[in-house]
Amino acid sequence: MTAGMDWHLARALLEWQVELGATEAIADAPIDRFTARADPTLAPPESSTTPTPTRAAPARTTLANGVDPVSAAEAMAAAAPDLPALAEAVAAYPHCDLRKGARNTVFSDGNPAARVMLIGEGPGREEDQRGLPFVGAAGQLLDRMFAAIGLSRTSPDTSSALYITNAVPWRPPGNREPTAEELAMLRPFLVRHVELADPAVIVLLGNTACQAILGRRGIMRLRGHWTDAIGRPCMPTLHPANLLRSPENKREVWSDLLEIKARLRKLS
Ligand code: URA
Repeated sequence: MTAGMDWHLARALLEWQVELGATEAIADAPIDRFTARADPTLAPPESSTTPTPTRAAPARTTLANGVDPVSAAEAMAAAAPDLPALAEAVAAYPHCDLRKGARNTVFSDGNPAARVMLIGEGPGREEDQRGLPFVGAAGQLLDRMFAAIGLSRTSPDTSSALYITNAVPWRPPGNREPTAEELAMLRPFLVRHVELADPAVIVLLGNTACQAILGRRGIMRLRGHWTDAIGRPCMPTLHPANLLRSPENKREVWSDLLEIKARLRKLS
């Protein structure tokens, strides 16, 4: 411990770093990355991009090693003939820096044959630890929301089952939103995921899922209206984390859930 730093301060600093996404000590001494930028011998590895947290549609980025990460993802996704192969391809994709800070690749949960596929934002701390989507507080609310219209991720019956994934499979550090560049490079895997699971309807949970699939944000305007993407109807609705913060929005989500239930009834 540094002289002058007491146990409580050291612990608070450590917890702060964990909250920012640090999960492992990789060197005895800290590296000053601001100085490292100026020193080419300490430059980051070639494959890293420098994503900016912009919400605008990203320009196609080429990495320093000449690789176009979107084309690379498209090729890997297209080569996957089924969901297990796609899960392997996602876990092996080397061009997204989110992967480096994550404990697990979070691919999906639920019944892949379900008529309804939910797309969230990305893993949080508990999802990263367990390798499954929506297992924290937001996930428990999600389960209750869909149970109210007779759907469950544990149902073996495809007509009452749910299949769940996220726009990005790795936890962004400190639970920040994925950047536009990250969403763009991971979108080919998401599109292939939808094609292989082939749900009858998709539910987009929140702005990040809408941006990834529809290329648009503005969840309060988008929600409640069916829109077509990847060859099937999509219903944008609020993310359960939004409802944990703003329970007064539950009325809107209940209306969206009833709309989904009515659509499924027409399909059966
Ligand atoms: N929020 C998400 O969008 N996805 C998860 O898996 C967990 C929380």
